[in-house]
Amino acid sequence: MKKAKLEPLRAPREAGPKPAAEAAASPAAQGAYPRVRMRRNRAADWTRRLVAEHRLAPEDLIWPLFLREDGAASAEIEAMPGVRRLTVSEAVDAVGHASQLGVPAVALFPYVEEHLKTAACEEAVNPENLICRAVRALKAAVPEVGVICDAALDPFNSLGHDGLVEEGRILNDASIEVLCGQALVQARAGCDIVAPSDMMDGRVGAIRSALDEAGLTEVGICSYAAKYASAFYGPFRDAIGSGGALKGDKKTYQMDPANSDEALREVALDLAEGADMVMIKPGMPYLDIIRRVSETFQVPTLAYQVSGEYSMIRGAALNGWLDGEKAMLESLLAFKRAGADAILTYFAVEVAERLKRG
Ligand code: PBG
Repeated sequence: MKKAKLEPLRAPREAGPKPAAEAAASPAAQGAYPRVRMRRNRAADWTRRLVAEHRLAPEDLIWPLFLREDGAASAEIEAMPGVRRLTVSEAVDAVGHASQLGVPAVALFPYVEEHLKTAACEEAVNPENLICRAVRALKAAVPEVGVICDAALDPFNSLGHDGLVEEGRILNDASIEVLCGQALVQARAGCDIVAPSDMMDGRVGAIRSALDEAGLTEVGICSYAAKYASAFYGPFRDAIGSGGALKGDKKTYQMDPANSDEALREVALDLAEGADMVMIKPGMPYLDIIRRVSETFQVPTLAYQVSGEYSMIRGAALNGWLDGEKAMLESLLAFKRAGADAILTYFAVEVAERLKRG
């Protein structure tokens, strides 16, 4: 590389003759160099730590995990190296480990066996489904960990969509009825938070009413309020096995990546309907939305570092193209800087282990 010759920054000078005394003084005294030196606070590790505005802690993280039936479906997920589908008993052990590292909560997603997927999504409301069994096992074994369940029909839908489909159209209100049933079985199984990720209009209010009428007033709602129709969900659809069935895209219910004001409207509506927390998803391409939402509403704001973001970092690291650990930590710190209170990340356990090592 060519070395640039460094010229000290010169302060503007008054016109006129130079006083003799000044000519003799050091360049610094003449104002030839900057008085304000930003680098002083960056000079040592201790100053950098002292003036850091944001810090990542295990307590900021929510670990999304994929579940599978015993003996069924491969554990490996091709598009997400390093992430495995866990059986319920493996999940109990893994979540126990995460808890010891200080991770406060997990979000559960099921790989549903093909024969259980239908267009009416009956398995979503089965109180014995994989998710409900996992919730019961986790709340029995590691009750201190918050359990978040996704409310959306895609894992159970033979058509791969988050809502019911009729003649190629999503049925908003009919989907909400199934989503309420899904939220109820999850809440009765003992989950702490229901997280509707389906983006149907009005589902937060309907789920809140269904939970309250069933006496489940303490179960919270974290709405995927600003969820964009994103290419970054690709690996997730591989992980839960919904990608093959999905025809077309989710643009009639998920948000247009071109929009930002609309996200504020989505968040306002979900809060009015009773959401306790709101989420922005994906994460890194939408840091501007996280910032706007956190500044506008001052409510618990979550960011989801989605599967595609994970796989980009992991994939590049596996190829030796970037330092995966540093990229992981930097990407997550960016969410905190943008204003997120917590982050869903597939790196949660690795980050917590790394932070513990110091
Ligand atoms: C499904 C759902 C998706 C994700 C979370 N819940 C995918 C989708 O909307 O197609 C994405 C998570 C990820 O990519 O990590 N309702």
